[in-house]
Amino acid sequence: MSEDESTAEAEQGVEDASAAITELAKRRGFFFGSAEAYGGVAGFYTFGPQGAALKRNVEDAWRDRFTVKEGNQEIEAPTVMPEPVFEASGHLDGFDDMLVECAECGVSHRADHLVEDETEIEEAESLPIPEVEELIADHDLRCPNCGAPLAGQPVEDFNLMFETSIGPGSGQTGYLRPETAQGIFVEFPRLKEYARNQLPFGVTQIGRAYRNEISPRKGLIRTREFTQAELEQFINPERDEPSLDSVADVEVRLYPATEQEKDDGGYLLTTIGEAVESGVIANEWIGYYLGVAQRWYDRVGVDMDRFRFRQHLSGERAHYASDCWDAEAELGGVSASPESEAGEAADPSAGDWIEIAGFAYRGDYDLSKHGEHADDSFTVFEQYDEPKTVERAVVEPDMSTLGPEFGGKATDVADALSDLAARDPDAFDGETVTVEVDGEEHAVDAEVANFRIEEQTEAGEHVTPHVIEPSFGVDRTVYTIIAHAYVTDEVDGERRTYLALDPEIAPTYVGVFPLLGNDEALTAVAREVVSDLREAGLSVSYDDSGNIGRRYRRQDEIGTPFCVTVDHEGLETAGAETATIRERNTTAQVRVPIDALADELAAIRSGRKAFDDLRAEYDDGGRGR
Ligand code: ATP
Ligand code: GLY
Repeated sequence: MSEDESTAEAEQGVEDASAAITELAKRRGFFFGSAEAYGGVAGFYTFGPQGAALKRNVEDAWRDRFTVKEGNQEIEAPTVMPEPVFEASGHLDGFDDMLVECAECGVSHRADHLVEDETEIEEAESLPIPEVEELIADHDLRCPNCGAPLAGQPVEDFNLMFETSIGPGSGQTGYLRPETAQGIFVEFPRLKEYARNQLPFGVTQIGRAYRNEISPRKGLIRTREFTQAELEQFINPERDEPSLDSVADVEVRLYPATEQEKDDGGYLLTTIGEAVESGVIANEWIGYYLGVAQRWYDRVGVDMDRFRFRQHLSGERAHYASDCWDAEAELGGVSASPESEAGEAADPSAGDWIEIAGFAYRGDYDLSKHGEHADDSFTVFEQYDEPKTVERAVVEPDMSTLGPEFGGKATDVADALSDLAARDPDAFDGETVTVEVDGEEHAVDAEVANFRIEEQTEAGEHVTPHVIEPSFGVDRTVYTIIAHAYVTDEVDGERRTYLALDPEIAPTYVGVFPLLGNDEALTAVAREVVSDLREAGLSVSYDDSGNIGRRYRRQDEIGTPFCVTVDHEGLETAGAETATIRERNTTAQVRVPIDALADELAAIRSGRKAFDDLRAEYDDGGRGR
């Protein structure tokens, strides 16, 4: 097979896999394009009953790991914020994607994505605009909609924020938040009080974010409204360390920037501990959260053979980040399993990889910017163990001289002198000292400035915390979980499709059936079982329509881990009634007393027991499939 043919086959595989998932998602109520009755609009999706429950379970599992187990606090901020927030955060100026519009049909496209689709380049987002324009011309890239050439069309920065007007009339300009993070940063002055001014502390938020994506595509992967689960970890970078030991032995597949820049670059198979020690992961907090995240993804059902961490190239990083690693999942159905011979692994360019989370070192960027723009303090006052005596440059300007000399600007000149003294005490060495106020320079007699070095006793210092941010896309995670759980096999000579979802996150946990749907004795007991299981907090679906095989298949397709069937055999002995529990993946069955069903199934869901424990305890009688 030629290279072109094998690429075409792989692409076909990707389309088939995603088409099959999209079809199942719509038919079984996971997700579908929203407002289809009105023609729909690209980039907006509704989660149906199964999808909403699955998403909730994923969010709960995230909350459990990143909020509760980390000892963090969760908040809920508004999704609309006033313009000054985004002036300060840099999103107004810098939150852009590259847009190219077709002169023929007027359809807009992400210019970097067109380049990636048609060339060997993997991260065109990191390239400057003129280079992208050149690539479009050199490769004669065409409009995917109408086929017209795009060469010569300008590539422009397009800001992704949705603008709105707050209040009637001309109102105040606001924006739908493009990340939940800003809702945490702007509330920092209060949040630090709740943390009793003690670093390190972390604040989480799960909520909607909005981006006016140029060309939303691939279903849930690139939408215009989506859910993020974000953690802002505030630290004193001079002092605070994560508990790296707890994740040091997590084995990871890394794709560092240095490897991406080589022609034949490959993966680095290593552990978190080694990667931090060798400096491949430069920041230990980033290393810590990569380890925690990998374990969490494994827990919720992401296939570790189709998972990697990729470092951002320098041109690709967001305006606030000094280093960033993405968690990426492979979604094309192409096996990317590493052949781990002496650290060698599969080809990183094989497969259809998408970002599902970003782990950024944001430094003090956000809090410093809000500190400059807002009227509050975005620092933490950290007390020393013992008060310290320090030398400080101070000025005490003679206002009776400054007043007549500078009039209304005298106070500003005095403030500028104080700032200068703190910044550059040597500036006061001469006979005059020059300060700038509103762009104008003013010379002040050094004696009038009254500069001196004083010994002061200080109880602590103001620290601008640094921020490490794990930012998860919930919708992309949900899609990945479905894609990685999607299995086809054969049961009793028939092809079946099932989702091998983990019991913790499966939207429906148990299907309950009477063996015969029209048998009153069986349906009555089955309904009692349903209410017992619901009472125990389990999500249950009751089904008495169609033959039993069809009912199993319906539950298999939505990933229900267990089905309980009530039959006459189980009701033979009064006071010792039983029902069968069938496990989804193996279709193995075990007969269990009806009054033990709720406890046993709850024990499996919470991870205290496995299905095999039930088989050992109650003996399955060899019913099998
Ligand atoms: P991409 O490069 O794919 O556009 P990004 O780098 O812009 O993603 P981030 O800004 O790092 O993404 O956002 C954090 C997370 O939010 C991502 O890892 C992703 O899971 C999710 N996310 C971002 N944009 C979208 C979107 N348009 N639709 C769904 N999820 C998204
Ligand atoms: N908060 C990171 C992002 O959404 O880009």
